[in-house]
Amino acid sequence: MAQRVAVVSGGTGGLGTAICTALADRGCKVFAADIAGDPARGDAFRAATAGRDIAAAALDVTDFDACAALVSGIEREHGGIDILVNAAGITRDTTLRKMDKAQWDAVLSVNLDGVFNLTRAAIDGMLARGFGRVVNISSVNGQTGQFGQANYSAAKAGMHGFTMALAREVARKGVTVNSISPGYCETAMVMAMPEEIRAGIVDKVPVGRLGRPDEIARAVAFLAADDAGFITGANLPVNGGLFMSF
Ligand code: CAA
Repeated sequence: MAQRVAVVSGGTGGLGTAICTALADRGCKVFAADIAGDPARGDAFRAATAGRDIAAAALDVTDFDACAALVSGIEREHGGIDILVNAAGITRDTTLRKMDKAQWDAVLSVNLDGVFNLTRAAIDGMLARGFGRVVNISSVNGQTGQFGQANYSAAKAGMHGFTMALAREVARKGVTVNSISPGYCETAMVMAMPEEIRAGIVDKVPVGRLGRPDEIARAVAFLAADDAGFITGANLPVNGGLFMSF
């Protein structure tokens, strides 16, 4: 079987790097699409992914045309995109009363518009080839809402609405669309939180610790696998038990 081609947005970030690694280790050719410009982040990514079939591609997911150009370039050179993981995400945490429009817009445009921009570009090729796996990295905070995250919680809940709607539209064509809702993990995003707030949250996690990025990545690999074709429109929580529901 031909090698699967995967695109991971936010691919050089905390979760993204682990997701790229997991997909490459399962035989995929991986493109880590991420905003360019942070040399330290680039160095950490290269060190973590050395020796694997992973290429970095500069992409601002808020740029609709740039998403289309990236997708068509990969389709031209590599025959198509089989797996799309939307993992690009940012925070601008503050209570709503202090939140300005720029903080709202930044989070919604990266975390939610970015999912539309990249998925819109990739979906036609998946449908034409009769195979696709879209995995959207949402958050436990999209399920529960989080103090200081009206923007982030709205975007992350919105991602799952998008997941369910698109899953219905493409189900007959071999394309699945699912969300993963990670809990608090060992990433720069979580480590940037005030220490006492983070410690208070970890206290409430039944497993008693932060998650590891590779623990999210293995859930992505599970949903992206060829034999995961009957799972669609689902949300897979990977949160150490922080939020349980059915
Ligand atoms: N519940 C109730 N009250 C709270 C509270 C909470 N969880 N957190 C703070 N408060 C209180 C404060 O004590 C303060 O009270 P007073 O006014 O009486 O002093 C009041 O609410 C407002 O606090 P601030 O003025 O300090 O609010 P702020 O606008 O500066 O924002 C904050 C505070 C930065 C949002 C802080 O509460 C915070 O960091 N919260 C956690 C946010 C969070 O979980 N972010 C996750 C980032 S990682 C991620 O998102 C990854 C993922 O998907 C899991």
